[in-house]
Amino acid sequence: TTITAVDRDGTQHSLEWDEDQSLMEVLRDNDLPVLASCGGTASCATCHVYLDEPVAVRLGARSADEEELLADAEGFRECGSRLSCQIAHDQELDGIRVELAPES
Ligand code: FES
Repeated sequence: TTITAVDRDGTQHSLEWDEDQSLMEVLRDNDLPVLASCGGTASCATCHVYLDEPVAVRLGARSADEEELLADAEGFRECGSRLSCQIAHDQELDGIRVELAPES
């Protein structure tokens, strides 16, 4: 599965997403500036990303925990904001574009 990650300075990176990785792990393991200080347990919001609307819709609603964290995060977007650690690998997500949200 290949995705396009857009860095905070607008640089695009084409990344391979392995089955055993969360989206946060793909970004972090490829040296994008995703702190992931909670290690992927949905409690820090440093893995905040923006997804395009159709992708966000396809993933369904955010969990209550995710919603709560993101609502206070820098640059929250009602539609596209997600915690990348909460997105598991899915073949269907091949080709998506993920943009890093501002650091919070
Ligand atoms: Fe902390 Fe995702 S890594 S919320």
